[in-house]
Amino acid sequence: MGRPRLSRRALLAAAALGAGGSAFAATPFPSLARIAARSGRVFGAAVEPEQLERDPAFAALVQDQCASLTAENVMKWDALRPGPETFAFDRADRLAAQARAMGAQLYGHCLLWHEAWPAWLPKEMSAGAARSLIEQHIQRVAGRYAGVVTAWDVVNEAVERNDRRPDGLRVSPWLKALGPDYVPLAFEAARSAAPRARLAFADYGLEYDDVSWMVEKRGTMLALLKRWKGEGVPIDALAIQGHLDASRPPSFGAGLRRFLAQVADLGLEIYVTELDVDDQKVVGDPARRDAVVADCYARFLDAVMAEPAVRRVTTWGLSDRYSSKAQFSPRPDGAKVRPLPFDDGLRPKRAADALQRAFDHAR
Ligand code: G3I
Repeated sequence: MGRPRLSRRALLAAAALGAGGSAFAATPFPSLARIAARSGRVFGAAVEPEQLERDPAFAALVQDQCASLTAENVMKWDALRPGPETFAFDRADRLAAQARAMGAQLYGHCLLWHEAWPAWLPKEMSAGAARSLIEQHIQRVAGRYAGVVTAWDVVNEAVERNDRRPDGLRVSPWLKALGPDYVPLAFEAARSAAPRARLAFADYGLEYDDVSWMVEKRGTMLALLKRWKGEGVPIDALAIQGHLDASRPPSFGAGLRRFLAQVADLGLEIYVTELDVDDQKVVGDPARRDAVVADCYARFLDAVMAEPAVRRVTTWGLSDRYSSKAQFSPRPDGAKVRPLPFDDGLRPKRAADALQRAFDHAR
């Protein structure tokens, strides 16, 4: 299958980036992508195309540090679907072209979610169009990027035990419309549209050993994955988001290691897809906050990198200059949040050292 036609604007923008990218001085910090690759892992970050187009220094850092770019927002329904009959691929095409210019993989996020809905979608859903909406959306989107997107978050955040279903699935509009079979439907549509892409089931709240709801969610997740794998649903990976909290004692021990091994025993790969460490509630100056954040990265990655089935680690942003935590988890003291490996000035932080050590020490 030939490369999909990306918009001319996207290719021109990427060409400019590609030319500029090679001219930028390399960051003084060793490439996390290259260190991760030594243990067969892919390191990347979630970005927006505009961050790369408008901020050459940031683009150079991403080019140096990342072997994969995740579409933070441009491949969600609210970005792609201005109307029931219309698709807006320009921004996603530009990101795809930028990844290509950088020689980086592109990670697609996300084909089905209960959030980031365009305003028109609820009315279409209530009209009983769920099945055709899912099939058409996934065919158009995953099909357009077949051979371009290496892996997809096909279904995102579908487990919610508080919704009290015996299977633990979230009672989302997708589930209300089609029942639990919307999940196999989505994966089969994605496999059909993009046969070579790796297909992931993604969720948060699986990381901490001493948080009871997370431990219970792990059991629910394993039961669902075991059932779907047994039914031949084409799921290739579990994507663990990895949104960590620096104000919570890091508890990433035997429980997490056992859970990862149990997922691997189902024949699944494991991706950490949205790693960041929230320092909203950490008291102290930036140096102290960075130390607490780095310790959280280090402890989590020690457990995660010990599992050979873990194939990808992606941070949700690369620099504090662009972190959605600033929007969704701002600090009460008004100080800039510091959840990512590189600071607002694109300098490596102790979290970057923690990532480097974890990749260096990985089997
Ligand atoms: O681009 C528009 C801009 O044109 C407009 O002026 C502005 C104000 O309305 O909104 C901008 O879009 C926002 C977008 O982020 C880009 O900043 C959306 O409103 C906002 O909802 C969106 O938030 C994203 C959120 O998912 C919801 O899609 C965050 O950036 C993104 O980091 C966050 O990521 C999620 C993952 O997809 C799933 N896991 C949790 C994770 C963190 O919440």
